[in-house]
Amino acid sequence: MPWIEELKDHIGKEVCLRGWVYNRRDSGKVRFVLLRDGTGILQCVFLRDEVSDSTFELADNLNQEALIEVTGEVREFDRAPGGIEMGAKTLRLIADSKDYPITPKEHGIDFLLSRRHLWLRSSRQHALIRCRDTMIRAFHCFFEKLGFILIDPPMITPTSCEGTSELFEVAYFDDVAYLSQSGQLYMEPAAAAFGKVYCLAPSFRAEKSKTRRHLTEFWNLEPEVAFLDLSGDMNLAEDMLTFVVKRLIEKRGEELELLGKGQENFEAHMKLLERLEPPFDRISYTEAVEFLEKKGVNFKWGEKFGADEEAVISEEFSKPVFVHRYPKKATPFYMKEDPDNPELVLNFDLLAPEGYGEIVGGSQREDDLAKLEAAIERCNLPREPLEWYLDMRRYGSFEHSGFGIGMERTLAWITGVHHIRETIPFPRLMDRIYP
Ligand code: 4AD
Ligand code: MG
Repeated sequence: MPWIEELKDHIGKEVCLRGWVYNRRDSGKVRFVLLRDGTGILQCVFLRDEVSDSTFELADNLNQEALIEVTGEVREFDRAPGGIEMGAKTLRLIADSKDYPITPKEHGIDFLLSRRHLWLRSSRQHALIRCRDTMIRAFHCFFEKLGFILIDPPMITPTSCEGTSELFEVAYFDDVAYLSQSGQLYMEPAAAAFGKVYCLAPSFRAEKSKTRRHLTEFWNLEPEVAFLDLSGDMNLAEDMLTFVVKRLIEKRGEELELLGKGQENFEAHMKLLERLEPPFDRISYTEAVEFLEKKGVNFKWGEKFGADEEAVISEEFSKPVFVHRYPKKATPFYMKEDPDNPELVLNFDLLAPEGYGEIVGGSQREDDLAKLEAAIERCNLPREPLEWYLDMRRYGSFEHSGFGIGMERTLAWITGVHHIRETIPFPRLMDRIYP
């Protein structure tokens, strides 16, 4: 039995297909049934005079999302979805679907999120998840071409990476453990073992943020490279993002188009993606603060940027922009002190244009044992669970850098969807873990 996506190779032939009823339409003596098998949608045409009475009657009464089996001849037809349709002959109902809750009318977001397991069958969600698939494969392809080794980090960890306030605790026999906030601490020893490594794994953040950019569980892709400094780290990030955007435009043009329907600035957005090339602009945190002041934004040097500040900064640029060298007190313990100014660290955030904010965060790592020990103390982190991490500074300490890029924020920006909850198959939000 062929999949709908393969039917171009079956034109003029009779095939038997299984799928769910996506939609139906009547017109005089014709019944059109749109059949969905996950790989595509096929218009099946039932003519009153060419099929049996019982087949026609069944076609007349099909419920949305009922599972059916159809046989008929595949033929070319310009105006059908995918340019082909089926002249149907027989029809069999395999499993009925009464009162399917998601109808073609508009539904509210809570209604849909509570039915996420069914909502995934709709065309917009389909387009998004297909883009996600292509994007993630593109990331893997990029790193494979460069000879990176994929390393899987643990999800149950003894300590914090990004700050203790966002930890999810889990009972670990007689002890407590935490869900991983980032794979980074494990990528660093892997970089000493393999040189160029990356991971793609969930990160868990118990952030009490109900914004369009926050999930409590998201997929974090984190490369880590030996003998790479901050500037090389930014080069890697811009090459990677450019590669991935190109791949999506090339492979998922149709899906991007569908997702862009009704988006105000979609054409401008696509132009921006098509023209994306390195280098991206690089400005320092201090320059960014001066820029905010010039724009009349009330902001104190030393604080973290919020979504509003990031939007004002990125608006000035037609591509993603790197903001580098943040104040030490606003950053995690592992970032390397700036040798030119001990108040700063050698890190960057990459801010996406069009208000999407930070999509990549990275840094050169502190490779000086004494400085790292002081940073752990300054951040009030327990030393003992991090002893092993210090070993990288004891046994052949090496210059190294890396970054993390959130899959969902990146996909939201590329596809132009407003909220990241739609960019992951089953979103975990502060107020939602069902289904
Ligand atoms: O900036 P973050 O917290 O950096 C790290 O995790 C470092 N350990 C990375 C590294 O250097 N290896 O997170 C990295 C990226 C962010 O830029 C953002 O894209 C995404 O992860 N991210 C989130 N995505 C969705 N929901 C959240 N709550 C997110 N927090 C971070
Ligand atoms: Mg960050």
